[in-house]
Amino acid sequence: KSVLKTRWLAHQLVHLESVDSTNIWAKKHHHELQHGALVLAEEQTGGRGRLGRSWESSKGEGIWMTLVLEPGLPMHDAGKMTQLAAAAMHQAIVGVTGLPVKIKWPNDLLVGDHKICGILTEASGELTRIERLLVGIGVNVNQQAFSGEIAAVATSLRIMMEQPVSRVALLMLFLEIFEKCYDDYVLHQSYGAVLRVVREHSMLLNQPIDVIRGDQRVAARAVSIHEDGRLEVVYEDGQSELLAGGEVSVRRK
Ligand code: ATP
Ligand code: BTN
Repeated sequence: KSVLKTRWLAHQLVHLESVDSTNIWAKKHHHELQHGALVLAEEQTGGRGRLGRSWESSKGEGIWMTLVLEPGLPMHDAGKMTQLAAAAMHQAIVGVTGLPVKIKWPNDLLVGDHKICGILTEASGELTRIERLLVGIGVNVNQQAFSGEIAAVATSLRIMMEQPVSRVALLMLFLEIFEKCYDDYVLHQSYGAVLRVVREHSMLLNQPIDVIRGDQRVAARAVSIHEDGRLEVVYEDGQSELLAGGEVSVRRK
């Protein structure tokens, strides 16, 4: 992999033809995977999103991958890593395509109203410390169309650019940016660049939203992305709350 310019990220690379889910594969093979490992698949047959939803991962048309990390951070910092991955992928997609990408807190990238990338972060360990973090990322790169239910919500870089986009170029750029952000944060406690990106390109900030927990739906306004990666919302009665990504869904009205 001569084009790969990272210092430590993805030096262990597992490239699978077909797998149920790269996150599940990484969990099953955890004893073979070191910090920084990248599990990449051409196709997923059981790709998953948040809350058990499914993620369509057609053959050869996307980047379906899981990064294996051992950041040694407190468990409550897991959400900051999702923001870090979103910011890094945002910069990589903009760098390769120039598209106007928006970040929908906590884990999706969109172009217009259509989802181009989703992130599924799974932490294992004790209550206090992250032992291992799996950052699963799916990017729709070269699909020419989507069918069924997701046609209304999904798009690809190829559809938006009206020409094919190099998965390798995007992946390489993403890995370099992610490694830089990760080292800044984990080694140098510097998280400001990530916050600037997720705040500047947020599609929710200063917008009316619905906060959804189970079948409960409450109207609110998104007011800021806190330094710890949580979303601050203000409800109609004036009460405010900091939301962690794992516990809620938010919808723009
Ligand atoms: P949330 O706001 O809670 O994240 P969501 O609707 O974005 O809700 P996710 O769990 O983030 O849901 O993502 C899974 C959903 O994404 C699926 O239910 C489906 O609608 C959609 N989806 C599935 N595959 C793809 C894909 N390849 N590209 C874009 N969207 C997809
Ligand atoms: C979401 O938007 O809910 C997150 C979708 C995450 C999809 C990626 S594709 C690679 C990795 N493996 C999975 O099964 N899911 C993630």
